[in-house]
Amino acid sequence: MSKTNFITSLKEETQRLAALGVAKSPEIVISKYDLSPSHSPQAVISDKQYILFNSNDYLGLRFHPQLIAAEHDGSQIYGTGPGAVRFISGTLQIHKQLELAIANYHGFPEAIVFSSAFAANFSTISALAKGQSQDSLVSSDTLVISDQLNHRSIVDGIRVSTLPSENRQIYRHLDYAHLAEILTQNLGKFPRVMVISDGVFSMLGEIVDLLKLREICDLYDSQYPQGVLLYIDDAHGIGVIGETGRGTQEYTHSRADVLVGTFGKAFGCDGGYVAGGLEIITYLREAASGYIYSNNLSPGTASAALAAVNLVSGPEGVKLLTSLKSNIALFKKLLQSSPVRFAAVTSHAIQPLLIGDPQQAQKFKNQLFDEGILVTAINYPVVPKGQDEIRIQISASHTSSDLEKLTALVIKYFPK
Ligand SMILES: Cc1ncc(COP(=O)(O)O)c(C=O)c1O
Repeated sequence: MSKTNFITSLKEETQRLAALGVAKSPEIVISKYDLSPSHSPQAVISDKQYILFNSNDYLGLRFHPQLIAAEHDGSQIYGTGPGAVRFISGTLQIHKQLELAIANYHGFPEAIVFSSAFAANFSTISALAKGQSQDSLVSSDTLVISDQLNHRSIVDGIRVSTLPSENRQIYRHLDYAHLAEILTQNLGKFPRVMVISDGVFSMLGEIVDLLKLREICDLYDSQYPQGVLLYIDDAHGIGVIGETGRGTQEYTHSRADVLVGTFGKAFGCDGGYVAGGLEIITYLREAASGYIYSNNLSPGTASAALAAVNLVSGPEGVKLLTSLKSNIALFKKLLQSSPVRFAAVTSHAIQPLLIGDPQQAQKFKNQLFDEGILVTAINYPVVPKGQDEIRIQISASHTSSDLEKLTALVIKYFPK
């Protein structure tokens, strides 16, 4: 009987979410894509076509023939899976090539790849915050200070570190004075500190002031015996912002000590990585649980990701980035004098429309869906209550008529 009650409580929870209009299922199922060159890749759902304004494929690389060919070649050479974790027999030449390419791309000495950026954050944060065995030489007494709106994979990485509550502090979103205050209050209490922030906040598209964060971390670095490490997750920034698309570091002309990225957004593939100094990355190969106890990228994906890094580093990458930037500018211009409210003002490809109510957000999303447009309604707990939003994501592959259609419908249906 008790097991039945357990399961009933799960059912009641999913019913509660459905009744609130915030359930994530049933998911929309895309049966195929229409890849006609006259428009952006369009999703086919129940035989109807939809323009995607909720994809992380910011440069439109997912369907690029070079990436698809590279994926095929990777599988031909190495098989469809790595066969084992990295330290057993799962380290393939393609992994090493990809790590070298990503380190060079960001100008760091080393990089390590993971099956996802979620796995990268989850295991890297805990490995850096705390020694991973009882006889580890790494201190387990780290003060971790995290932006209030950091991504869930960061939150979970901190949680899994099982640090005492005084070692885990949160500064108000983008409030650097609050961060400095926490650093001052904790002087003499901890040997070392790790400050963690998203580079671009995934729900709002806001770009962190990395220059300011760097300045604060450097100021306090000598005041803690083992210093202050700056950790940036730039999953949405890389490929999208900065003069050549190298992300928040390039955009702000500043540097992180540890940089997390994903191949699953602007690079159009799958997988995540950490770039940094040699000692940091070498340590992660010994201590990051998601690297040691889980398969790495499949060879086809690693090969496609390498093709993506090479492509975005070259002239075609520059062209795609230019198209993305001009599409973002066009979107903003088309809504400039409309009554549409934004949850944040940003030059990033993430454009959040502020709705403020879960049912209205759902209704608005459904109205756009009926008109052939896919956007995402974002509700609590992903955003705070009352901050329900419609997240629009712009891609280099959108045409001006895609953007004109979207903005006309946004103006027509935006809740008054
Ligand atoms: C800021 C941030 N970090 C990490 C991730 C996880 O990326 P991945 O899909 O590679 O696990 C995401 C994806 O939503 C993200 O937005």
